Amino acid sequence: MHASFNLAALFDAALKTAATATGLDAADFAPEVRTADPKHGDFQANGVLPYAKRTKQTPRALAEKLVAALPADVREACAITVAGPGFINFTLQPAALQSWLRTFSTREQLSAGAATAYSGQTWVVDYSSPNTAKQMHVGHLRSAVIGESISRLLAFSGAKVIRDNHIGDWGTQFGKLIWAYKRQLDTAAFAEDPLAEFERLYKVGNNASDADPAVLKEAQQELVKLQSGDPENTAIWKEIGEVSVSSFQQIYDLLGVRFDTTLGESFYNDKVGRVYQELTDCGLASESQGALVVFHPEHPRFKDQPFLVRKSDGAANYASTDLATILYRREHFHADAAIYVIDSRQGDHCQQLFLTAQKWFEKTGRKVPRLEHVAFGTVLGEDGRPLKTRNGDNIKLKDLLSEAVERARRLVDEKSTDLPEDERRVISEVVGTGSVQYADLSQNRSSDYLFSWDKMISLEGNTAAYLLYAVARVRSIFRKLEAVPGDSAVEADASPLETPEELSLARKVTKFSDAVALATNQLRPHFLCLYLYELAGEFSTFYAANKVAVDDPAVRARRLMLCARTLLMLETGLDLLGLRTVNRM
Ligand code: ARG
Repeated sequence: MHASFNLAALFDAALKTAATATGLDAADFAPEVRTADPKHGDFQANGVLPYAKRTKQTPRALAEKLVAALPADVREACAITVAGPGFINFTLQPAALQSWLRTFSTREQLSAGAATAYSGQTWVVDYSSPNTAKQMHVGHLRSAVIGESISRLLAFSGAKVIRDNHIGDWGTQFGKLIWAYKRQLDTAAFAEDPLAEFERLYKVGNNASDADPAVLKEAQQELVKLQSGDPENTAIWKEIGEVSVSSFQQIYDLLGVRFDTTLGESFYNDKVGRVYQELTDCGLASESQGALVVFHPEHPRFKDQPFLVRKSDGAANYASTDLATILYRREHFHADAAIYVIDSRQGDHCQQLFLTAQKWFEKTGRKVPRLEHVAFGTVLGEDGRPLKTRNGDNIKLKDLLSEAVERARRLVDEKSTDLPEDERRVISEVVGTGSVQYADLSQNRSSDYLFSWDKMISLEGNTAAYLLYAVARVRSIFRKLEAVPGDSAVEADASPLETPEELSLARKVTKFSDAVALATNQLRPHFLCLYLYELAGEFSTFYAANKVAVDDPAVRARRLMLCARTLLMLETGLDLLGLRTVNRM
């Protein structure tokens, strides 16, 4: 059998071939091959049943017919059984497992194998995207962490990814902030932490405007001046932007987040006029009491709730800039897809935005990119309410991450007593930050997730520390044997896999491809997390029962090959999640 990276996809294609060969309508048949429960085999086709029902055939008989028509190389490589009412199970023969392990021995080979339908497509990933003049807080964690991992997954599968930080750097808040800046700037506090000072000033301006209508008026005038390009206010606004972005950058550096472009809302200021014009010309938007609105009469919820794309005072809003952004992403980046990693509470905005853009692009004869809201839930404290400080303030991301590193440090001091200070420091950083990232990623992003220091920074369970420790353990095996992971001269001597633990680990290793495909296609990194956790467990079982440092060079070689591939999948997988790894722990 030709070694194919994604075996699930290979069996899927083989079943389609078999369907055509038996004279069935393969176009209507989705075999749905997925990683199986190990009790049943390696992979299972679930699609025979629904297809048999649709075409009024007996599922089992159909399954048997398909199996008989499978290409000869597939039948040689696997034991194939029909189970239950018509599932087809594939169990790879040891030789097929071994040949897969031999073929996929580097990250480059994995990435080439992972190339999917997305290869060559351009995907804009809109993530993090905080508002300027405010420090990032815990609410900003998920978008950055999930968006980074999804960007890495898409790039790994061959997509051209443009990571765009769509910062909120425009809006009415700047009037109040500039008003306060001009009157109450505390230069010492500013020198200490400029962004914290801007945050304070905004509160000052906001409170004063609430308390006194005259102040509100002055603040509005500051805003008008900014909007009309007044040099002094523009300079203040620019400074706010620069200070904000450089403070965000500190967090991004800790999290390993890297953007290709940071095009904030202000970038689209001169691009919204064209949106109003086109939407009006193509008959989508209409004026309503001075505002410009788009109705979606066919939509059950939005039919009475129009999408406001220009405010009644003529000013642009969130929707106007987001529409201009979609056009820019299509025209400038030639985006085939644009995905928005935003809190699920912005679901309505996204739906109305996408509906409007789809209709607009169709009416104007443009290709409609795939638009998707990669929504996620809220970070909750252990009391089940949104995570806050004891005083009810938002927890600053900076503080949260340093606490993570401190807590990881305690774990490291307890466990790695023999390591030098500078190494312990690095390990604490990797484990601390990685734990926060991993706790977020290992949950299905659609749900809220409970933030628990004790569960997250632990060597037990599905945690970053557990996986990082597994990496360090495999590395230490190679160190002790003075061997290099993936050394092809050593691996050439490997004898056939034999023990149940060897085979079982090899089976798990080959499922990397399916886990990556699932995480990428569904834009859900938790599938990869779960896989890595199970892989690490499988490795422990193997290592407890099978000595690697044996005298027989052929046995040793095949076990080293298993160690090397486990390491490759763990390290590649963790990198795709955005985590760093360490060689010792
Ligand atoms: N700045 C927005 C916020 O903090 C998020 C922007 C998300 N991206 C977008 N294109 N709307 O809520």
